[in-house]
Amino acid sequence: MSTAIDSSSLFSRNLHKKYPVALRGEGSWIVDSDGRRYLDASGQAAVVSIGHGVHEIGRAMAEQANRIAFAHTSQFHSEPAEALAARILAIAPGTFHSGGRVYFTSGGSEATETAIKLVRQYFLETKQPSRYRIVSRKQSYHGSTLGAMSVSGNVGRRAPYAPLLPEWGHVAPCFCYHCPFNKAYPECNLACADDLEAFLHANDPSTVAAFIFEPVVGATLGAVPAVDGYTARITQICRKHGILLIADEVMTGMGRTGKPFASVHWGLEPDIILTGKGIASGYAPLGAVLVAPHVAEAFEKGTAAFLHGFTYQAHPVATTAGNAVFDYLEAHKLFERVTPAGETLRKALSALESHPQVGQVRGLGLLQGVEFVKNKSTREPFPKEAGIAEKIRQAALEKNVLTYPSQGTVDGTRGDHILLAPPFIITPQECQLIGGALQFALSKVFSS
Ligand SMILES: Cc1ncc(COP(=O)(O)O)c(C=O)c1O
Repeated sequence: MSTAIDSSSLFSRNLHKKYPVALRGEGSWIVDSDGRRYLDASGQAAVVSIGHGVHEIGRAMAEQANRIAFAHTSQFHSEPAEALAARILAIAPGTFHSGGRVYFTSGGSEATETAIKLVRQYFLETKQPSRYRIVSRKQSYHGSTLGAMSVSGNVGRRAPYAPLLPEWGHVAPCFCYHCPFNKAYPECNLACADDLEAFLHANDPSTVAAFIFEPVVGATLGAVPAVDGYTARITQICRKHGILLIADEVMTGMGRTGKPFASVHWGLEPDIILTGKGIASGYAPLGAVLVAPHVAEAFEKGTAAFLHGFTYQAHPVATTAGNAVFDYLEAHKLFERVTPAGETLRKALSALESHPQVGQVRGLGLLQGVEFVKNKSTREPFPKEAGIAEKIRQAALEKNVLTYPSQGTVDGTRGDHILLAPPFIITPQECQLIGGALQFALSKVFSS
């Protein structure tokens, strides 16, 4: 990339790579210091919802910073945090509306970390001290801190830290395209959901505190939604065993899939919902843990004091950004825009589907994935060394389109996909550019 600076004092994500310098953003575009314009087809990492460069967000943040930038949550609440908490609860599933609570963090990993500790303390408050394990799924991602990594099932991201991570149990993902049981939906009778029951049968369920899952698996699988019936079965199993249910909606929350929370697609009412990313559309680091009334009540009736905290939790400027983004989403009816815009994007991608190396185009709303396969009929993936997802990313970049590539789609090692999660304001013309760039990428990467 031509605009990279040659030496950097930053501990970059990859010290061998040269990064262009992002100078400004306009709508769905990022402009670098050479003036090159990139179409942000992945909203960076499914973060940007209202688009880049919306001046009223910056103005609102500056006004708040000038009024009061910071007050520690051990001593004060702030107006923007109070307002944003109430607004988020109002668009959450019904059970959160009356008596729900929100714990703001500075991102998704902190939200997962907070939820892990919150459920542990919940079981202390309710006099069930044997419960501590958080069961999760293989092929999932819940964040990069050690607690969040422990529950993540993303093989590649976990591997170097394996000695540091407790193993609480990972059950099968809900992933029909590469079903871990080699079954087909609906004849499978939701074998993947029943894997949780099987796990609880084999492991003492009285040690299990919660089950965490992504209703639509984002980074790890490339936009794979749960099939109908899955979340209901999971809920049933959790309730039967007295286990709390955590929906990780860090990527899918705040409208990304066409509903305020993806849980709403299936009438799912988790005990805890995590969100982040789109909550402030990238204008500030912000995440949130939504706590259902009965969980908060256990604390109120118990010690009342959650033994956890971050200096910057519920930061006034970050929550002001969240409110300003919320205002913008409402004023421009952007939640309503996601489903039709997602359909337009899907149409623009439809020409890819006939390509022999495109296994599946999938997703919900504006969270979509394209999986690449070596053999379309057997769904056999490419070997890891072929680096297909990264090659596709690079080729699409030649057309100035930014995508989010990942490997390990099938089993944590093999498999390639790219994730698309453009801002909710993406236009039909921009969807065409995305489709065209991917067509170009396919012909370039698979030309021989
Ligand atoms: C589902 C999910 N949970 C948690 C996280 C971690 O969020 P963050 O990177 O903001 O810490 C991510 C990030 O991609 C995510 O997709």
